[in-house]
Amino acid sequence: MADLAPNRAAPGYTATARVLHWITAVLVLFQIPAGLLIVSFDLGLIYNLHKSVGVVILAVLAVRLPWRLTHPAPPLPADIPAAQRAAALAMHWLLYALLVIQPLLGWIATSAYPAPVPFFGLFEMPHIWWQDRALSDALFVVHRWLGIVMAVLLVGHIGAALYHHFVRGDVVLLRMTRG
Ligand code: HEM
Ligand code: HEM
Repeated sequence: MADLAPNRAAPGYTATARVLHWITAVLVLFQIPAGLLIVSFDLGLIYNLHKSVGVVILAVLAVRLPWRLTHPAPPLPADIPAAQRAAALAMHWLLYALLVIQPLLGWIATSAYPAPVPFFGLFEMPHIWWQDRALSDALFVVHRWLGIVMAVLLVGHIGAALYHHFVRGDVVLLRMTRG
């Protein structure tokens, strides 16, 4: 980036990292409002889409997490303060953890209820827990709270990306868009 001071330039994410990030982002940004719609209106189609998309998120993470653990993120611009680097690191690993825990919880809770886990009307996913209504009820309470936690974290995550781009005018957002 010729128009940036050297300590503000930084390498971008690879195409693989960007594709995996934006697939996850689109699915999760559908998933949270879909979950809220289910509990408000009990719409069968949304119910099934929420479960199917949740299973897809889990499958994407089964590829993305091992890939990420073997491919470090590119270094941030040198002028980002240490506290902000630490906050970004904590946020990203928290999001990774929730991206695995939340769909697994939903799947276990649905299995324990027990209710079907359809995959886009094509076939049904197997139950991964035995019938236990009390456990199911408890896990759905946790599922709801983790959904809210994810929504709050994502407001911070997206807000930080927009702050970097529009207020600081650095390359942090561009690292994840054009690489
Ligand atoms: C409009 C929505 C979003 C924007 C603008 C955005 C932007 C970004 C940017 C710019 C980075 C790179 C930060 C850096 O260079 O340090 C990043 C990383 C990341 N984002 Fe997002 N993001 C969005 C949505 C999401 C969603 C919905 C999730 C999933 C819950 C998510 C999960 C992550 C994770 C886990 C990383 C860390 C990548 C890594 O270093 O391995 N993002 N995001
Ligand atoms: C990243 C993935 C997921 C996210 C972010 C997510 C998020 C949410 C949210 C925010 C709600 C609304 C909770 C409430 O207000 O009570 C919800 C409800 C629900 N989710 Fe998920 N979910 C995910 C994956 C899954 C999966 C994989 C399944 C099942 C296979 C599932 C099954 C359900 C069910 C059945 C409800 C309705 C619960 C009830 O009626 O109390 N979710 N989800």
